[in-house]
Amino acid sequence: MIREVIVTTRAPDGRIHIAPMGVHEAGGLKMLAPFRPSTTLDNALATRCAVVNYCDDVRVFAGCLTGRRDWPTLPAQQVAGVRLAGALAHTELVLQRVEEDAQRPRLLCRVVHEANHAPFRGFNRAQAAVIEAAILASRLHLLPADKIDAELRYLTIAMDKTAGPVEREAWDWLMARISQHRSGKAAADA
Ligand SMILES: Cc1cc2nc3c(=O)[nH]c(=O)nc-3n(C[C@H](O)[C@H](O)[C@H](O)COP(=O)(O)O)c2cc1C
Repeated sequence: MIREVIVTTRAPDGRIHIAPMGVHEAGGLKMLAPFRPSTTLDNALATRCAVVNYCDDVRVFAGCLTGRRDWPTLPAQQVAGVRLAGALAHTELVLQRVEEDAQRPRLLCRVVHEANHAPFRGFNRAQAAVIEAAILASRLHLLPADKIDAELRYLTIAMDKTAGPVEREAWDWLMARISQHRSGKAAADA
């Protein structure tokens, strides 16, 4: 089981870092698996803690991939970190052990605090579509253009039928990022 969340960490100098990431359930522990290189990885190893934010504002996911990482935060309760002010709920983690890997180490973490802040209001297909598009946008260098186009065509159906203004804004940021990547690539190929 993997949940797509926003992970907040702090550098030893206090700088806040916000990144979308999958959190795995692993035998009573939470597991994060950042690909190297990763600021989240560096921060979690340095401070031995991280915060998982359950967030239905999909602009945070799209924003982090499009240079908009400055989202409001509040202090965490039990670790020296922060949570997203807009999170529906959050979980504070202490790093228990690391399974080393050259590409993708696994950070196994113990839950030390959890809190709810706002109600879950149900599934929205456009939110899921933005998360899928954000994953595509994070893999532009790996995926063929026709696969990306086919997936975006399908995701557009959910956007057209069910998006509100927040989802539309997040989607537009991602589409601009994908176009920008393509025009940069076309210029480099010319
Ligand atoms: C929904 C979603 C899930 C992601 N999950 C992961 C993950 O589990 N591990 C990872 O390394 N990157 C993941 N990414 C990509 C990272 O958010 C992105 O590469 C980010 O910049 C991580 O690097 P950082 O810690 O240096 O910010 C995910 C992106 C999205 C949109």
